[in-house]
Parts: sequence; C-alpha cells; structure tokens
Amino acid sequence: MSLPLPLAHELRLLEGVRLWLRAPLAPFTTIGTGGKADALVTVDAIESLVSVLALVESADIPWMCLGAGSNVLVSDRGYPGMIVKLGDSFHYVDELPSSSHVAEEAHLLVGAGAHLSRLAVAVAEAGLSGLEFSCGIPGSLGGGVAMNAGAHGSCLAFRVLELEVVSAEGRRVIPSSALSWGYRHCGLPPGSIVTACRLALTRGDRDAILMHHRALLRERRKTQPRGVRTFGSVFKNPQGDSAGRLLDQAGLKGVRRGGAEVSTVHANFVVNLGDATTADVLTLMMLMRQGVQRTTGILLEPEVRLLGGAFPWPADCPILQESPRADG
Ligand code: EPU
Repeated sequence: MSLPLPLAHELRLLEGVRLWLRAPLAPFTTIGTGGKADALVTVDAIESLVSVLALVESADIPWMCLGAGSNVLVSDRGYPGMIVKLGDSFHYVDELPSSSHVAEEAHLLVGAGAHLSRLAVAVAEAGLSGLEFSCGIPGSLGGGVAMNAGAHGSCLAFRVLELEVVSAEGRRVIPSSALSWGYRHCGLPPGSIVTACRLALTRGDRDAILMHHRALLRERRKTQPRGVRTFGSVFKNPQGDSAGRLLDQAGLKGVRRGGAEVSTVHANFVVNLGDATTADVLTLMMLMRQGVQRTTGILLEPEVRLLGGAFPWPADCPILQESPRADG
C-alpha cells in the first residue's frame, strides 16, 4: 500500500509536519532491523498532530506512534501504514527549580519526547528524587509511560499524576487514576498518543541521588549487555520469576541465528551482531520461548512490540514464513 498523493499533499501543508514516503525504519529502532514504512511523519504541534491522526484515520490508513525505538521490532516487510513521531518541540521539561529551592514535592510537566535517562539526570541535578530507577532506560518518556517502563522495583506509574494525550478527536488530559496501570501496561485509550506527563517528584539530596544513579548504572553495566544493539528485554517476567534466569537455565545464552544472538551477559536480551534481520530475531525468540517451555512448562510472553506483524507464533508467524533469511 502507498499513501494516496492528495493525502500526502494535505499532510505536508500542516504546520510543523514533515513527511517521508517509503521511510526506512531500522535507523529509528535501537535493534536496527526491519523494513520501510509506507510513510513517516514528524509532528511539532498539538493541533497538527490531531489533524494528522484525523486525516489518516479517515483514509483508513493504519498508524503507530514510535518513540525512541527501544522495545520495538519492525517486520522485514516493513509497516503498511504511517509511523508518527513527535518532533523536537515535545522534548521539553518545565522550568526546573534550583536545587536549593525545591519544595517537598514538585509537580513537573514534561514533554513525551524527553529521553528518560537524560530526564533522570536533569531532575537529579535539580535535587528532585523519584526517577532514579529510569537512569539507564533507553527510551522516551511517552513510550515509557505507554508500557509503564520500570526497573529496580519502581516504575513510571508511581510518578505520573496525569497525562496529556492526543487522538483524532483532539487533546485531553487523563488523570493517572483513570488508567489501568499494570506490569508493562498503562491502559492508554486506543488511538491515542501521549504528548506530555505531569510527574510528582520529591525533594532529595542532589549528590545522594546522583550517587544512587551511579550505583544503578554500575549494576546495569554488570548485568545487561552494553555498547551493542538490542531492544531491551525480550520477554516479560512471568509472575514471581525472571525470564532471564529461566532462559539462562535453559542454556540459551550465546545461541545464534543469522546475525542475532542471545546475549551472553543477560539471556533475556537479543543482540544484533551487525547484519541481523527481524526474521533472525524472531527465529531466535521462538527458540528461546520453546526452550523455556520445554524445561519449565512456562510460556513466556513477549515484552517487545512487533510493528508490521503480530504474535502469536511460532507456527503461524507470517513474518517468519516470508523471511528473507530465516536460517533457524
Ligand atoms: N539472571 C540469570 N541469568 C541471566 C539473567 C538474569 O540467572 O541471564 C538472574 C539474575 O541473576 C537475577 C534474576 O535473574 O537473580 C533477575 O535478573 P535481573 O536482576 O537482571 O532482572 P530482570 O528481572 O531480568 C528486570 C527488568 C529490566 C530491568 C531490571 C532491573 C523485565 C522483563 N526486566 O530484569 O527491565 O532493567 O529488572 O531492575 O521486567 C526492560 O524491561 O527492558 C528491562 C531491561
């Protein structure tokens, strides 16, 4: 499918909208695999974002919002629709108090495009505590909220007061209490994009917070692969257990398919060794899932979002059947 030209023309006339046709998506993902989208837009104004969604939906074209590109895997066949990315104007943070003038609690409005790790450092520098857990998470705030990103026993649900979301109907503010937060889940209304979050942070000691960051980053460097292309955790942790531990016990570390490898550092990560295809990654994921099922009876559930295809697999995964190089 390609984008109808009159629609492309209309989109290009909107303020703050940039449009690319047949856009390669691999460079927009942290794992670096997958094909092209029919179209990709970056949007820099709320009103234009509403118009983009309204136009695309009325033309019956599927769309998805892409944040920093972690936690997603793009089909090798690409995405048959439009990818929406928030532009630089969504990378804002409310004016931060100076670290000597922080009240007991600060409510901070942050644009959804803000990078979680950088945000964690910026608030720490201002003497605000509450985002320490996110200091090594390679995602955007909006993407993080959409999947309730978490680490070290904390998650974004604990800090979000309200969300600003945009859909084809317009902009609205949703209080945190109206969402159905869960493990890697926030219950965002379908068809909506998070554009900003109001976060509740508390006063803390700047140096102590930064020291905490350093300890968490040291821990992350020891236990998770770094300096390589991954998309984060492959599978969700099953209730009361760790997917990484189960995959490790099943002997999967270091297993390779094509250009993809189960990390030798942490078994719940897949590394793109350089020339992996999404089919390689999916083949490996299938083996990982089967390995754990065989040894424990537990069926792991993917945490990664598949763009341009759908789980369930293995048997009926269309992406695998049409893979250019599924040599598993
Ligand atoms: N383990 C192994 N072998 C492995 C990996 C882990 O035996 O290959 C063991 C560890 O030794 C530990 C246990 O499994 O005893 C748990 O491992 P870890 O502390 O690394 O935590 P995790 O449950 O694997 C979760 C999140 C991570 C987050 C870390 C740190 C999920 C799926 N993963 O990992 O989040 O960074 O805790 O808090 O919830 C992500 O979601 O993308 C992610 C990276």
